[in-house]
Amino acid sequence: MQKNPEPRTITRDEGSNLDQTLRPQTWEEYIGQTKIKENLRILLTAARERGHAAEHVLLYGPPGLGKTTLAHLIAKTLGTNMRTTSGPAIERVGDLAAILTNLSPGDVLFIDEIHRLSKSIEEVLYPAMESGVLDIIIGKGPSARTVQLDLPPFTLVAATTRISMLSAPLRSRFSGGTFRLEFYEEDEITSILSHSAAVLGVETNRTILSTIAGRCRATPRTANYLLKRCRDMAQLDGGALTKEIVDKTFGLLDIDNLGLGRPDRAVLEAILYKFNGGPVGLNTIAAATGEEQSTIEDVIEPYLIRLGLLERTPRGRVTSPEATTHLQNLITH
Ligand SMILES: Nc1ncnc2c1ncn2[C@@H]1O[C@H](COP(=O)(O)OP(=O)(O)OP(=O)(O)O)[C@@H](O)[C@H]1O
Ligand SMILES: [Mg+2]
Repeated sequence: MQKNPEPRTITRDEGSNLDQTLRPQTWEEYIGQTKIKENLRILLTAARERGHAAEHVLLYGPPGLGKTTLAHLIAKTLGTNMRTTSGPAIERVGDLAAILTNLSPGDVLFIDEIHRLSKSIEEVLYPAMESGVLDIIIGKGPSARTVQLDLPPFTLVAATTRISMLSAPLRSRFSGGTFRLEFYEEDEITSILSHSAAVLGVETNRTILSTIAGRCRATPRTANYLLKRCRDMAQLDGGALTKEIVDKTFGLLDIDNLGLGRPDRAVLEAILYKFNGGPVGLNTIAAATGEEQSTIEDVIEPYLIRLGLLERTPRGRVTSPEATTHLQNLITH
């Protein structure tokens, strides 16, 4: 009898889809942001009890703090489907019209990066959000006429890292609330990491996880990414995830004791050493560091500001005395 060789099964690494694997599936697994959770719980439960679609919600804050995860939990709580799209994906009015008319009653429509919607599309969204209708213009010139379509009741959940880019009329239409996600406390991140370690089957303890938590820019996505890098290192070293493994991994990734990486430090160094501590404009910092302005504004700056190392002033960015001390300590150690 012919023997088939046992196929070597290669499974998809959960790392390629890490956000999904580790994404909280319940409100209990969603750690922190307690005020937002409580507000949403009341909004969603009340709407559900009334049998109405919940009102529209806007979520904002730096990347990786849990906006998309919240949108999933909202849809789950309402017991409805979630349709996902994003600002840059909606290029024409027709794209938005197609999405809206295909919704089922009560659905959640999640629009990520809503600050990237064009003005003409925003204008179609206003009546849809406010009165549940779609105004479509048919024809051109004198024979053009407006047709109004009734839409199924829906809940818009929108996310952005850039609330300042949203027009006032759009912002005001999120009648269910506008919620700002905050950076996480170290013990909250440690709890998130404990859950992630269990899911990934990593052998470690809470003390070790708290050292990762202290150096992940207070951001769950970064924390999970770093845990995975430490897990890889532990695997190659043939064992458990120890404090030495964590230190070795962070050293290799060039992440310092405050959790800052090279791009963070490059911004501080540019302001401090090239521009004497500032004030200096964003475009100048971008040119000096080779980073995109949007990356500096959305990703790098918020955490430096939170640490008190950098300040935004009307005349530009300035570094604080703590930034000088931090950079000097890194050189001397
Ligand atoms: N409160 C939380 N509790 C546990 N894990 C969390 C929490 N928030 C985020 N995470 C983890 O971090 C990952 C990233 O979160 P998410 O994708 O929701 O961030 P985001 O705010 O949408 O980021 P972006 O602005 O880049 O789209 C999630 O997949 C999840 O694993
Ligand atoms: Mg997201």
